[in-house]
Amino acid sequence: MFDSKVEKLLNEQVVAEIYSANFYISMSAWFRNRSLDGYANWFYVQYKEEMDHALIFYNFILNAGGRVKLGVISAPPSDFEGVGDILTKTFEHENLVTSLIYKINEAALEVKDYKTVQFLDWFIKEQVEEEDRASTNINRFNLFGADLKGLHSLDEEAAARSYVQTPQLALYEPAVV
Ligand SMILES: [Fe+2]
Repeated sequence: MFDSKVEKLLNEQVVAEIYSANFYISMSAWFRNRSLDGYANWFYVQYKEEMDHALIFYNFILNAGGRVKLGVISAPPSDFEGVGDILTKTFEHENLVTSLIYKINEAALEVKDYKTVQFLDWFIKEQVEEEDRASTNINRFNLFGADLKGLHSLDEEAAARSYVQTPQLALYEPAVV
């Protein structure tokens, strides 16, 4: 069971995580269209991780006796000014996601909903990593991305990222899946 405000915020977070996934796959498509396949891969992996996050929130709501009520998922942008623009927008977006998670945490603390506080612990740590990854991408692009050779090696570097299912997902998914 949940306090209604906490339940609403958790549901909004499912939507926010699906939006994040769509945001990143839209960026992945932008890179694919420009044959920057390494960055396309990096953002495709990011898409999959965000979908894991959405499912973790979804399953947590149900496991804890809550109701899932999903709202509208807005369309992500599809036009970007360049690589730097995408990397900056990624960092800004992750900052926003962090603030949303903090907001749920504050609401849960207010009503002594410790199961939600404990659940969010992993996401709070994850957001530190997300922001770090996003700012590292910006820094490396600013350092090395100015010429085509540098951009090519950054793209190759991004190709090395591979998807591993978020371990948290197995903790919250029903056994039948
Ligand atoms: Fe996420």
